[in-house]
Amino acid sequence: MTRPQTAGSARIEVPPFAVLPGAQVQAALHGREREIVELIEQAYRLHGAGDSVNPPSYFLRFPDRPADRIIALPASIGGPLRVDGLKWISSFPGNVAAGVPRASAVLILNEHDSGYPFACLESSIISATRTAASAALAAGHLSHGRARPTRIGFVGTGLIARYIHTFLAATGWSFDRIGVHDLSAEHAAGFREYLTRAGTAGEVAVHESAEELIRAGDLIVFATVAGQPHISDPSWFAHHPLVLHVSLRDLAPEILLESANIVDDVEHCLKAQTSPHLAEQLTGGRDFLTGTLHDVLTGRVAPPAGETLIFSPFGLGVLDLAVGKYVYDRVARSGELHVIDDFFQELRRYG
Ligand SMILES: NC(=O)c1ccc[n+]([C@@H]2O[C@H](COP(=O)([O-])OP(=O)(O)OC[C@H]3O[C@@H](n4cnc5c(N)ncnc54)[C@H](O)[C@@H]3O)[C@@H](O)[C@H]2O)c1
Repeated sequence: MTRPQTAGSARIEVPPFAVLPGAQVQAALHGREREIVELIEQAYRLHGAGDSVNPPSYFLRFPDRPADRIIALPASIGGPLRVDGLKWISSFPGNVAAGVPRASAVLILNEHDSGYPFACLESSIISATRTAASAALAAGHLSHGRARPTRIGFVGTGLIARYIHTFLAATGWSFDRIGVHDLSAEHAAGFREYLTRAGTAGEVAVHESAEELIRAGDLIVFATVAGQPHISDPSWFAHHPLVLHVSLRDLAPEILLESANIVDDVEHCLKAQTSPHLAEQLTGGRDFLTGTLHDVLTGRVAPPAGETLIFSPFGLGVLDLAVGKYVYDRVARSGELHVIDDFFQELRRYG
C-alpha cells in the first residue's frame, strides 16, 4: 500500500487511492443484511438530526435520449460515519433488452480532513443494497400497529425487487403468498425462478394485472421504471395495504391523497415529477404528508394502521456513503484494497 504523504500541515495527509470492483463490494456485503439495515437506520437518524449535507440530486438528461439519465448525488454524513462523496449513477432502460442491467454506478469517497478522494467503488450493488435495506427498515417500522403483512406483491421484477425480497427474507420476514406482476412476462418468470432458487416456502402467483396483485396483497412493492402514474383507481387499495413505492412514479396523486404518506426526505421527494410531487401540484400544499421515516423512527409520528400507508423514498446520497464506507472499511481491514500507486501527483505546492 502507498504510504500516505504529508501535504502542507502536519495533520493533513494525502490518503492512498483505492479502486473497489463489484466482486469485492458484493463479498463485503454478502450475508450482512441485518447489519446493513441497522447502518441505514443510523444514517437516517444522523440525517434527521441534521448531521448531514444532502443537496438536491443533479439530473443529467439528453434531448436525443429522453428515457436515459445520469444522476449525481453529492453528500456528506457526520457522526461516526464521517465521510463525504458523490454517487454517479446512470439509468439506461434500453440496456435491459440487450441483457445488460439498466443501472450502472460508481461511488467516490472523499476524506473528511483533506477532501481528497480515497476510493472509487462499483456502486450499482451499493445502490441496490441501500435501497433494499431502507425498504426493509421501513417495512418493519411502518407495520407496527397493524397486522404484520404476510401476502406481498411485487409490481416490477428487476434487480431492485430482487434485492428488496432478499433483504426482507434476511431480516425475518416470511410470506404465505408472493404475487408477481411485470409488463414483461419474461421478467416475471425470471423473478419467479429467483424466488424458487431462494427457497421461498409460500405460494408464488404471477398476476396478469396490477389490480389483481394489489387486491391480493397486504404489502405491495413498486419497483418499475414507469415514468408516469399507471395506477389510478383508489378502490384497488380499499383493504389498506402497506405500500413501498420505491419507483416513486407509479401511483396517481389521487391514491396518495386517500392514504397516509411517509417519505424519506420531504424536499428531495417532492421533486422530479414523483407521485408525491404530483400530489403537491394537485393540492397546492403538503398537507397530504404524514411525516418522514425519521419521524417514525423517533416516535414523533405513529404509522396509521387503519388506512393505506405509502412509503415513498427518494433515495438519499447519505445512504450510499454509509454503505460505501462500510464496504471500504471491511475491505481495508482484510488487507485486500487495490491501491493505485501514485494516483495523486503534484503534491508539493511549489514543485
Ligand atoms: N427510491 C430509491 O431509492 C430507488 C433506488 C434505486 C432504484 N430505484 C428505482 O427502482 C426502480 C426499479 O429499478 P430496477 O433496477 O429494478 O429496474 P429494472 O429495469 O431492472 O426493472 C424494472 C422492471 O419493471 C418492469 N416494468 C416497467 N414498467 C412497468 C409497469 N408499468 N408495470 C409493471 N412492471 C413494469 C420492467 O419490465 C422491469 O422488469 C427504478 O425506477 C429505479 O429508479 C429507486
